[in-house]
Amino acid sequence: MPKLEEYLEAQHAQFEEDLCELLRIPSVSADSQHTGDVRRAADWMVRQFSDLGLSVELVETDGHPIVCAQSPAVEGAPVALVYGHYDVQPPDPLDEWISPPFEPTRRDGNLYARGASDDKGQMLTHVKSVEAWLKANGGLPLQIKFVIEGEEEVGSGNLLKLLEADRGRLACDVVVVSDTSQFGPGQPAITYGLRGIAYYELHLHGPKQDLHSGTFGGAVTNPLNALANMLASLIDDDGRIQVPGFYDNVVPLTDSERQQFAALPFDESRFRTQLGVQALSGEKSYSTLERRWARPTFDINGVWGGYQGEGAKTVLPSRAHAKFSFRLVPNQDPKQLDDALREMLHAACPPGITMELVSHHGAPGFLVPLESPYVGAATRAIERGFGYAPVFIREGGSIPIVTHFANSLDADVLLLGWGLNNDNTHSPNEKFSLVDFHRGIRASSYLWRELSRIAIA
Ligand code: BES
Ligand code: MN
Ligand code: MN
Repeated sequence: MPKLEEYLEAQHAQFEEDLCELLRIPSVSADSQHTGDVRRAADWMVRQFSDLGLSVELVETDGHPIVCAQSPAVEGAPVALVYGHYDVQPPDPLDEWISPPFEPTRRDGNLYARGASDDKGQMLTHVKSVEAWLKANGGLPLQIKFVIEGEEEVGSGNLLKLLEADRGRLACDVVVVSDTSQFGPGQPAITYGLRGIAYYELHLHGPKQDLHSGTFGGAVTNPLNALANMLASLIDDDGRIQVPGFYDNVVPLTDSERQQFAALPFDESRFRTQLGVQALSGEKSYSTLERRWARPTFDINGVWGGYQGEGAKTVLPSRAHAKFSFRLVPNQDPKQLDDALREMLHAACPPGITMELVSHHGAPGFLVPLESPYVGAATRAIERGFGYAPVFIREGGSIPIVTHFANSLDADVLLLGWGLNNDNTHSPNEKFSLVDFHRGIRASSYLWRELSRIAIA
């Protein structure tokens, strides 16, 4: 495809400039102060698609809008649905950024900005490959639909509603998502499994106001002590989660899967250095990759209450709070966990304390078979775009809508990650390799050709 490759070459700088423009919009979906910015990012996406001559619609929701676009139907070829998200995580802690999060900056071959990798940069590779096809060839070899949402980082609740209300709009044969990572630099991957999630907030209320811990301590249950005990009871020293029934439906790792993970070139000491820790730990009898990709976990995400100011204050606080989450694996059911967790925490809540447990987003895990013709097509496209054949991996993060796509669209899902796991997603100094941005665009361009050759039933 010489004409297309020439176009990609000629547009290098322009593609990067376009990405920078999108990255300058602080589309933080979790923060209501940024509601206007989230919409500006959606409008920016709409303009990209309408400039390409695709039919495009900004779908309003109870939250942030969803951008839907599509190219014309192509007789006899499969329909691909590209999913991505234009929303980003909050940028804090701000003082740890070397360059400001919403002023994209090039350094050592990377572009630094919140959203560079997750997911603006990765998502845009598919928009730019479609642009290249349209400009160089005047059309696409298959129909491509885009659904780019603004609520992935807050659980995709409104996209799930759209999917349930209007499945036909998203009907397709294969879903393409670039919102994961390569296995390592220059080692692209196809991800065949993701973990799910169940996220909670726990509020404990004790005495009606803060008390002198000398006068009253020992006679009144301290909500922070209670919180520490209750949270600690959820996991044992072997890293086994103690919620009744938690492991009932866990799909175990197969022997061949364990062998494949073990055969991947994973350097544990480099991994420790990358994270700045002296030792790794986790569920007993599992390797690090198994723990990260295929085993469920419990993590406390935040704890607050009591005195946080300078010096010491002998106080028995009236309240205590925590945010915590479980990563789930197939076939754990977030609803079943919810019921069992509630019962367990109520039983563990000591006298003198009342509790409130709030459920945030929940999503089941995701696991797909690899013997699909679409996986073969993606393998060839990646090999050509990156110069290396992909490895097959699972990952520990969650993309809540993906499981719902797989279940209700009866489509195969391709998770083709162009990022790296040291991209600092959700952290300060998020980055995306510019070389990988362009390789991603090339691989995506080849993917459309490869997919179009697959005969559909
Ligand atoms: N792109 C990530 C998901 C991801 C992370 C996949 C790492 C593979 C490896 C996505 O944007 C994300 O952050 N998802 C959230 C989901 C949550 C907010 C419901 C997550 O995993 O925490
Ligand atoms: Mn993402
Ligand atoms: Mn994310």
